[in-house]
Amino acid sequence: MNDDTIITSTKTDEEPKGKREVAASIKKFRQIYAQAVESSPEKERIQNQKGKFTARQRLSYLLDENSFFEIRTLVQTASNDFDLKDKNIKGDGVITGFGKINGRDVAIFAQDFMSLGGSLGLAHAKKIANLMDLAIEAKIPIIGLLDSGGARIQEGVNSLDGYGEIFYRNVKASGVIPQISVVLGPCAGGAVYSPALTDFIFMVDGISHMFVTGPNVVKAATGEDVTFDTLGGAKMHSQKSGVCHVIANSEQDCFRQVKELLSFLPQNCYEKAPATTTIDSVDRQTPLLEKVCEINPKKPFRIQHIIWELADENKFFEIHRDFAKNIVIGFAKMGGEVVGIVANNSDVLGGALDMDASDKAARFVRFLNAFNIPILTLVDLGGYLPGVSQEHGGIIRHGAKLLYAYAEASVPKITLVLRKAYGGAYIAMSSKHLGGDFNFALPSAEIAVMGPRGAIEILYSKEIKAAPKEKVEELKEKLTKEYAQKFASPYQTAASGSIDEILEPTFARQKIIKAFRLLKDKRKPQFNTKKGNIPL
Ligand code: HXC
Repeated sequence: MNDDTIITSTKTDEEPKGKREVAASIKKFRQIYAQAVESSPEKERIQNQKGKFTARQRLSYLLDENSFFEIRTLVQTASNDFDLKDKNIKGDGVITGFGKINGRDVAIFAQDFMSLGGSLGLAHAKKIANLMDLAIEAKIPIIGLLDSGGARIQEGVNSLDGYGEIFYRNVKASGVIPQISVVLGPCAGGAVYSPALTDFIFMVDGISHMFVTGPNVVKAATGEDVTFDTLGGAKMHSQKSGVCHVIANSEQDCFRQVKELLSFLPQNCYEKAPATTTIDSVDRQTPLLEKVCEINPKKPFRIQHIIWELADENKFFEIHRDFAKNIVIGFAKMGGEVVGIVANNSDVLGGALDMDASDKAARFVRFLNAFNIPILTLVDLGGYLPGVSQEHGGIIRHGAKLLYAYAEASVPKITLVLRKAYGGAYIAMSSKHLGGDFNFALPSAEIAVMGPRGAIEILYSKEIKAAPKEKVEELKEKLTKEYAQKFASPYQTAASGSIDEILEPTFARQKIIKAFRLLKDKRKPQFNTKKGNIPL
């Protein structure tokens, strides 16, 4: 039976529509849809001249071919003030729908700067809110491609209300589905807070800007002259404010990195991150870790080298690469399984924990915990960063976030102390006592209340004061050596059980993977508290 037979043989009380009528209605439907998605070549040219793609071009570059399934294409502007309806703002300036990235479903919206600057009116906001609701129901990640002048001025408070609806859903979706914001143009005013509530923000150097008040308002309010880039460009946000998690050189580069990030994430909080097969042997030796044991403990090095050595195929996707570089965070695979890595980087500030490093690591640990991703912590730090600016800035408050995040995390937690682990920072870095499952150390680890030199200055202050001036340095060196031999090693900590095992450095990868595999079915809520109160 062909389609014609089905139509002609269907008996209803009403007169069947004539073939011509049907064809006309389909023609009309096609016309309406063609008009809804067409755009002005002149506006496209202007957008492309700025080094930016149009919203539809972006969707086609980011999503798998032919996978986009648009919804609410025909939505119209809600208000007619300032003759808005006559302006024929296509889809009210935002495209919403679903697509696939490397075969996996995502919900996605793209603001269309060519339609009234991508400004957010009520209908625009409702489209995004509806998509967010569906993404939560479908349990799939949501990606926002943002390029907007912010609240649509002509729609007044209605557009502000629209933002409220979006913020509400950002929080509702938090920890349930991954939320990714890709800022590809302006993002100004309170509008910045939707991306800020999501898990990851991507920005492109030269075209992305985020600020609460723009350069003109800043000039009027404070007299400061500042450019868009200096005030809220991608470099500033990835180096100074920490608002941007990943910076890209171009939109293409940005989409490549978004896809890479997604390859490490589960679709939602009920699933595990996708495992892959790897050509890298689980038993591969890690001779670089033996080198760590041989070098002077005071010599700084880039921790990324150790991460690459441990990770499958030496691959590491770093988050916040240019912000608080004294701590390094990101995703890798070990034995084919996704792990989140948090590591002190002695190359910057000796790896000391400061306010920014604490915030950076704490937020990441919370993300990993929310999305069932095991955590590997690599420890090498002398402690918290001393200084008036740190104390006045609230290192107590910020440092507490990291303690809280590790203690509440119920995903598998493995810690490896490479070299120094002193004082409160030793406890903060996923120690046994914050619920570490396997806490390992290399033979080079020095775990103590404080560094040997600082310790003997306090312990032997009287003896040092009493010693003849010319003998002071010699005495200090002798005492430091004795102290280091006794305390600045992993053996005392291993004897107490706070370190589970001291590892042969070349077998570190093998041991860590084995330990993660043992913990693969670990499922326990950490505490019974209904809602904890993290020190923000
Ligand atoms: C309505 C807007 C708009 C807005 C831009 N347009 N922003 N229309 N509401 N918020 C329109 C412009 O009138 C213009 O329309 C078109 O978009 C392109 O804008 P241009 O200015 O020509 O582009 P460009 O030179 O690239 O500058 C882009 C811009 C600038 C930097 C975004 O337009 C700008 O500063 N806009 C205002 C930003 C702002 O202050 N937004 C309010 C933030 S407050 P035509 O018809 O000429 O093409 C906010 C509160 C949210 O968002 C609170 C949430 C709780």
